[in-house]
Amino acid sequence: IETAELLIFGELPDEEERAEFRSLLTENSALHQDMGKHFDGFPTNAHPMSILSAMISALQSHDLPEHQFTDANGFREAAASLIAKTRTIAAASYKSHVGQPIIYPRYDLNYAENFLHMMFSVPYRDYEATPEEAHALNMFLVLHADHEQNCSTSTVRMVASSGANLYASVSAGVNALWGPLHGGANMQVIEMLERIRQGAMTTRDYVARVKDRKSGAKLMGFGHRVYRNFDPRARILKDAADRLLDAMHITDPLLDIARELEQVALADDYFVSRRLYPNVDFYSGIILRAIGIPVDMFTVMFAIGRTPGWIAHWKEVTDNPRQRIYR
Ligand code: CMC
Repeated sequence: IETAELLIFGELPDEEERAEFRSLLTENSALHQDMGKHFDGFPTNAHPMSILSAMISALQSHDLPEHQFTDANGFREAAASLIAKTRTIAAASYKSHVGQPIIYPRYDLNYAENFLHMMFSVPYRDYEATPEEAHALNMFLVLHADHEQNCSTSTVRMVASSGANLYASVSAGVNALWGPLHGGANMQVIEMLERIRQGAMTTRDYVARVKDRKSGAKLMGFGHRVYRNFDPRARILKDAADRLLDAMHITDPLLDIARELEQVALADDYFVSRRLYPNVDFYSGIILRAIGIPVDMFTVMFAIGRTPGWIAHWKEVTDNPRQRIYR
């Protein structure tokens, strides 16, 4: 939450600001009762990203009136509301996907713990996240919080430049993030590792397939428009995955396959000459799996993390008195 405040308001909060923003988040965690009807309208196999983008758009009709977004207090509340409710919607989309009742947020839990509670509690049993799980999720969210003018952030800025409201702009960002070349890559990485684990091919076979340009296959979780040496987030996540699995006494064969695949690729001239390295999506799925997040929620997790960044960019565009419409 402090990272979110730093991004959005430009400086770290003092104690009073931090307490005030936390309480705004808490007060704005629950969805308007009528939003439950929207969830009921989705087929049970709806992709959680489609639910998330539609519900963030719908939220605008239930939340603050649009004219309040541009005054400082109104914006503060809208930002807190969106950060809190994106998490609530994400967990509710999972619950409606698996056919379980939606769980309300608890006011005594921190941001990451509350998400895990809304994902995994059931009406007859509360889920208590371990400190390791809550810490890992918090770190995942911080690492995804912002990353300059990537595809979804550029989309948010584009939509904001027309004067569109915060929720409309962020909902557009969610849709841009969905693609497999962007946030959708974290799902694809796990699917790729699973295919290798199930014996369809070895890591070397997979790399050979990627190099055969006719196959159209890519090494998912590799390459980045900006990072041509390495992606620092991937290094942090690789170490964190190791530590988390150790602490939770989990052996995940996908982590071993990921490590081997990285080694094979980094020793291959195809990847070396194109300066392709693991990116943020290569190891993040291993962490999410260990916490128990299902694969089709992975890109939603990225969206929760990126929401503060999108809000900060919306504010930057909207606050600029010389802003002109993008085209
Ligand atoms: N596997 C195989 N070849 C690749 C890959 C890859 N993952 N990434 C790039 N290349 C090749 C590409 O085909 C091109 O080869 P050539 O010069 O012979 O035509 C060369 O490397 C340069 O790539 P590019 O397509 O010009 O690079 P880009 O900056 O346009 O694309 C990218 C960046 C991230 C979309 C791309 O690397 C990619 O598709 N990676 C896989 C998907 C992925 O992991 N996405 C997550 C990105 S990081 C987090 C995020 O933004 O969401």
